Amino acid sequence: MQYIIGHLLNFIIKMQAHKLKVWHDELGPVIRLQIGAQPWIVVSDPSIVHYLFTTNGTTSSNRPYQILSAHYYSRDNSGIAFGKANTRWRRLRTIAASSALSPAAVSKHMKFIRSEAVRLAEELISSSTQSILENKNGINPLGSFRRASLNYVFRAVFGTCIESGDDPRLQSALDFTDQTNMLIGTHKDFEGFLPILSYINSWLPNRGNKLLGEFLRTRDPFLRAATNVGYGSAWLIAILLHHPDVYKDLCNEVDAFIRTHEGRLPDFSERDQLPLLTSCQKESMRFRGTNDVTLPHLIEKDVNYKGYLFPKGVLVLPSAYAMHRDPDRYPDPEKFIATRFLSNNKTMAASAAGKVEDRDHFMFGFGRRICPAMHLAEVQMFILVTNILARCDLKPPLDRTLPDLDDGRDAGAVMSPPPFKVIFTKRENSLLK
Ligand code: HEM
Repeated sequence: MQYIIGHLLNFIIKMQAHKLKVWHDELGPVIRLQIGAQPWIVVSDPSIVHYLFTTNGTTSSNRPYQILSAHYYSRDNSGIAFGKANTRWRRLRTIAASSALSPAAVSKHMKFIRSEAVRLAEELISSSTQSILENKNGINPLGSFRRASLNYVFRAVFGTCIESGDDPRLQSALDFTDQTNMLIGTHKDFEGFLPILSYINSWLPNRGNKLLGEFLRTRDPFLRAATNVGYGSAWLIAILLHHPDVYKDLCNEVDAFIRTHEGRLPDFSERDQLPLLTSCQKESMRFRGTNDVTLPHLIEKDVNYKGYLFPKGVLVLPSAYAMHRDPDRYPDPEKFIATRFLSNNKTMAASAAGKVEDRDHFMFGFGRRICPAMHLAEVQMFILVTNILARCDLKPPLDRTLPDLDDGRDAGAVMSPPPFKVIFTKRENSLLK
């Protein structure tokens, strides 16, 4: 059995990235795995991944052909995330950038991002108040954060937005992102791991993948990643519940800005005046990220680097979780240190474009397929969080149970915080005009 499935059972487990970290500690930064029929190499040294995906990008920028992600989700490799790295894919990345993701597009929609942030803060306060009136423990903020981040894509791509949590399009879009994230997760491609399953599946009536194909034909695949910022922001709130002193310092930092700027909140371009928040955003993504392993790249020509051979046909998977726990790069990696990046106020996108040894974190991936929404993600999170800090007090739930930060939920292509409760109240001393 082991001969047929290889390391498969170790690969499809909950918190797979944690297992990979244990192996890296034992075996080193480059580990070859046999997942069913497919050889994989997982890498925890950023300079090796940089060499493979950036320096050698021409032969390592394709994704593997996986039945769920490439065939159904990406309509035979024609979308962005799982499209073949060809002219069409480059054009799609350019269109996505100009409509929604580039700094110019994000600036164009800034008013909307701000109004969504105000709406989010109000929603968090009113649903917390309601939960207390109903003698409940508090609210899980993840749904509200996901709606806020999803709405940006609705506005920028479809020119519409979801006003209320009761709008049926909201549930339908959230279901869509949940299902696609679940199905395209690196460790979900069972038919790729064991090709015989493809053959068996093709004989099954109402084959699940066929249904997914029908489902996707009616929706836009770009939506899939749209809630990632919501997951990332919810992680930050979960972490801050454990660090009320940091929350207070962040409120003071935002207040100091408001006081000296006629009662208004900062623009993203003024973030150098909020060094603690800038540092916390980076530290939160390092400490509890949404992409503990990033997406695999296919190696199309043998590459030798530092004595390692990466043979043609192997899939390389960056172990971001293990990278973020390297004590030489991040002293005390198991601790959330709010001030860790105080002296590094480069934007995340600028950092990702710089030298690999100077990068702040690796949550957005590497090389030509690096997340095209890095700028949007950092700006959106900054605006959502500054609004919450200026408008809300953050309190633990009535039973005072704090989120279990070691218990991320595998949502397929993203790592979600576990369900947790929190209470947001209106800040009576808010300085906003
Ligand atoms: C905290 C937020 C986010 C994180 C951590 C994140 C992370 C990532 C990662 C790790 C990749 C794979 C990179 C690689 O293959 O090396 C990726 C790709 C991608 N992301 Fe993001 N992402 C985020 C937000 C978003 C948002 C909001 C959108 C769109 C609205 C988006 C759209 C995409 C697309 C289209 C790709 C595929 C790029 C390609 O294959 O060419 N991401 N992202």
